[in-house]
Amino acid sequence: MLRVAVFVSGNGSNLQALLDNLRGEVEFALVLSNKPEAYALVRAERAGVPTAIVRYEDYSDRTAFTRAILEVVREKGIDLICLAGFNRILDPVLIEAFPLRIMNTHPALLPAFGGEGMFGRRVHEAVLASGAKVSGATVHFVTAETDRGPIILQAAVPVFDDDTPETLAQRVLAAEHRLYPEAVRLFAAGRLKVEGNRVRIAPA
Ligand code: GRF
Repeated sequence: MLRVAVFVSGNGSNLQALLDNLRGEVEFALVLSNKPEAYALVRAERAGVPTAIVRYEDYSDRTAFTRAILEVVREKGIDLICLAGFNRILDPVLIEAFPLRIMNTHPALLPAFGGEGMFGRRVHEAVLASGAKVSGATVHFVTAETDRGPIILQAAVPVFDDDTPETLAQRVLAAEHRLYPEAVRLFAAGRLKVEGNRVRIAPA
């Protein structure tokens, strides 16, 4: 059974969506956080999933931090890493060790509203400031270039005139909670075929 690690830093609602939808279909072998206080760790413990904490502050630089993470992941025999609200950029050394085996969820329709510094509330503020009429969620493979990896699934949501960053975030999050489990399910079934920067979904 596919052994999945989920990396978290905050509330963990995407982790919860993965746990709720994929239990029994994949093995959640690890929830790793860089924040000891992340509520996502409570969700993991409640689900009986082993946890690990690797604090960025305990390492001299991003590479040392990432190497420490890589060690934990290797020890657990992980097949797929799912970033779910993880708020640190990872050193390419992890991406090289897990080519096309790291996924991320982004709360906008990449490649728009993505890249360095575009995360969390800032994304929704930028979408509202742009006057865009739709936003949405993207699940993609992680490559060395932030938010530019091959797109696996996307879902659009409407932007309303009276939206605030919070109301838009809520609507996008609901889309993420639908998309992420489906993306992992497709990966587990071997149906994701990456051709250049495109992902083709093979028929069941
Ligand atoms: C999600 O919107 C995700 O796209 C972004 O941060 C949020 C994480 O939320 N990276 P949660 O911790 O999964 O609830």
